[in-house]
Amino acid sequence: MKTLRRTLLGMALATGLSVTFAVQAAPLVMGFSQVGAESEWRTANTNSVKDAAKKAGITLKFADAQQKQENQVKAIRSFIAQKVDVIAFSPVVESGWDTVLREAKAAKIPVILTDRAVNVSDASLYVSFIGSDFVEEGRKAGRWLLDLAKKTPNAELNIVELQGTVGSAPAIDRKKGFEEIISANPKLKISRSQTGDFTRAKGKEVMEAFLKAKDKKIDVLFAHNDDMAIGAIQAIEEAGLKPGKDITIISIDGVKGAFEAMVAGKLNVTVECNPMLGPQLMQLAQEVVAGKTVAKRITTVEGVFPADVAARELPNRKY
Ligand code: AHR
Repeated sequence: MKTLRRTLLGMALATGLSVTFAVQAAPLVMGFSQVGAESEWRTANTNSVKDAAKKAGITLKFADAQQKQENQVKAIRSFIAQKVDVIAFSPVVESGWDTVLREAKAAKIPVILTDRAVNVSDASLYVSFIGSDFVEEGRKAGRWLLDLAKKTPNAELNIVELQGTVGSAPAIDRKKGFEEIISANPKLKISRSQTGDFTRAKGKEVMEAFLKAKDKKIDVLFAHNDDMAIGAIQAIEEAGLKPGKDITIISIDGVKGAFEAMVAGKLNVTVECNPMLGPQLMQLAQEVVAGKTVAKRITTVEGVFPADVAARELPNRKY
């Protein structure tokens, strides 16, 4: 069946004939292991994947890992046992994937990484990665702050950081990119940095602890995602301070909730991270299964949205 599907898809792609016909003749089956449902971004990403699979006529076996690597490993093993045509997954953390990916390779099932990357000894364990450049997102956040700091050249700015999930690619890379840029100005210093696990609840909890410490006035919050920033905004308000004014807030994702917070004057800037990866992922999966050579890395194009453009941009946001 797999060989027939590959032949039909290959013929359709090579001749330009209807791929839909080939897919309908033998529906492609994708096993998809999602990180969880930790953020507004993740919900948009899940919806994008599910909608795109339906539109492409791909049978999707979807598994929610609830932010746990062991659940993802179990899901991937179950996809292998079910002999799916292709496995796609967004790895919760970067390391610890070699064994299960070797099992997929031995079963001749191609693996596509989406959103987050892995750290493996052998790059042939996956065929392609599709997602954002997280280091660059951190740099964009850092550049925005560097520009702001130019307005008060003599002032030292005390920064606190809410990191994403420990060991995840976006947490590691965003921190790296941000630090790389702000190191150009010795007056910008991160005094506290802790994980908020990409959720509103933890973002709020950790920000409360930062505020309670009271050892140093907090000037800037850098949150690795909008949800943690929104949680922190609540903590700041409950502490009797004005988010976006008393504390400058920089975050990443560009979800609607962040735009609403900017319109309300409570968030200063969000760096976009595009979750709408579904259509590209489905196309890539069809090409991979048809035996086409695909790019090892496909990076999404993203912008930066400061508060002064939020009201204009909000109606255009898709997630
Ligand atoms: O991997 C992408 C990150 O994961 C998003 O920035 C965050 O909101 C999500 O949970």
